Amino acid sequence: MNCCVVGLQWGDEGKGKVVDILAENSDVVVRYSGGANAGHTVVIGEEKFALHIMPSGAVRKKTCCVIGNGVVVDPGILIDEIEGLDKRNISLDDRLFISENAHVVLDYHKAEDQHRENALGKNKIGTTIRGIGPCYADKIGRSFAVRMADFRNVDSLKEKLKKIVDYKNKVFAALYKAEPIDANNIFKQCVVFAEKLKPYITNTTKYLHESIDAGKSILFEGAQGALLDIDHGTFPFVTSSNASALGMSPGCGVPARLVDKFIGVVKAYSTRVGAGPFPSEQDNEIGQTIREKGNEYGTTTGRPRRCGWFDAIAVKYTVAIGGVNEIAMMHLDTLAGFDELKICKAYRINGTETTFFPSDAVELSSVECIYETMPGWHEDLSGVTSYDQLPQTTKNYIAAIENIVKIPVTMVGVGPKRSQAICKS
Ligand code: IMP
Repeated sequence: MNCCVVGLQWGDEGKGKVVDILAENSDVVVRYSGGANAGHTVVIGEEKFALHIMPSGAVRKKTCCVIGNGVVVDPGILIDEIEGLDKRNISLDDRLFISENAHVVLDYHKAEDQHRENALGKNKIGTTIRGIGPCYADKIGRSFAVRMADFRNVDSLKEKLKKIVDYKNKVFAALYKAEPIDANNIFKQCVVFAEKLKPYITNTTKYLHESIDAGKSILFEGAQGALLDIDHGTFPFVTSSNASALGMSPGCGVPARLVDKFIGVVKAYSTRVGAGPFPSEQDNEIGQTIREKGNEYGTTTGRPRRCGWFDAIAVKYTVAIGGVNEIAMMHLDTLAGFDELKICKAYRINGTETTFFPSDAVELSSVECIYETMPGWHEDLSGVTSYDQLPQTTKNYIAAIENIVKIPVTMVGVGPKRSQAICKS
């Protein structure tokens, strides 16, 4: 069984936990998009693992991990993750495969990210400043790109970096009056990165197809959420990759036809970090309560997340574009304590009702949500171990969402631990 796990909202849905659980029965776990802007948390017993680039399956010692060509790799962060896991007795030797075609995030990308955001002022996107947009821009622009394969030949990389840094310095000085970056420093960092990462760099497309031919089960792990997809999300308030399920094939070279199941992960409510439209946002006491109960602060940046009611119209849309088969609903426990819960079941735009999500940021900003109001529950769900034990009000809430999005919820999360995920049989 090959399976793909994707976020169906604005990221941070709890994909790491779902991937970690499914990885138990997978031979290979593949990250295929995004970079160190992601933050996937896996909690095992008392131990907490926060991973940014490494696939969440890495904490399972027998699972092979692939970083596909669609990922933008920050080598410093990746090396920290490899060494950090090693210190906890989780070695990646012989089981980590990094695509030679994956692009490399260097310091000048992070500087550019920061300069651009500063220049945008109040119109900023609210990026993670991890250099994601600038690195993907260099990938598309082609002339100034560095790929993992370049670490195989540091002499030619040295020449390449001189040309790139020279160009970047001219742009940074002209547009942002910035101090120049030293190409030699970047090169010195790259020599260390190359030394440490070279053993893992390979043709991952070949590795994946050989694994599939050998009957191995592959788990594809999305980063961010479909509403942040560069083509289908709430542009320009998106990330710079195809964060929806559609990004899987280009991000690793495996066609969707070879994936048996797409599992979409949602929270039982909605959150978003950074700027951009968010129709069901509750910028009030309700949102504040969800934030505190759900500890809704970014794994990567620590920023408070904006919180709101579950938007079934947005999720119906991301299910449709991604061909998603079933849903894993996380953070159900966080909603305990509300007398009433709301689910957005339609939008009103300029007086007209619609149930199709308009991804255009301007149109979306003028949307008014039409809600279905449901009774809430007060029971603590964190100790619930089977679906039958859930309160009837909780089951009704899930059923109301299934009724709108038209696919089943097959797993629910009632706490951060591996053991706090329940499958609906
Ligand atoms: P970037 O990916 O750093 O360029 O940021 C672009 C937008 O995507 C910003 O609104 C970020 O807050 C958001 N974003 C990027 N990565 C994540 C993530 O892993 N979770 C949630 N939001 C994210």
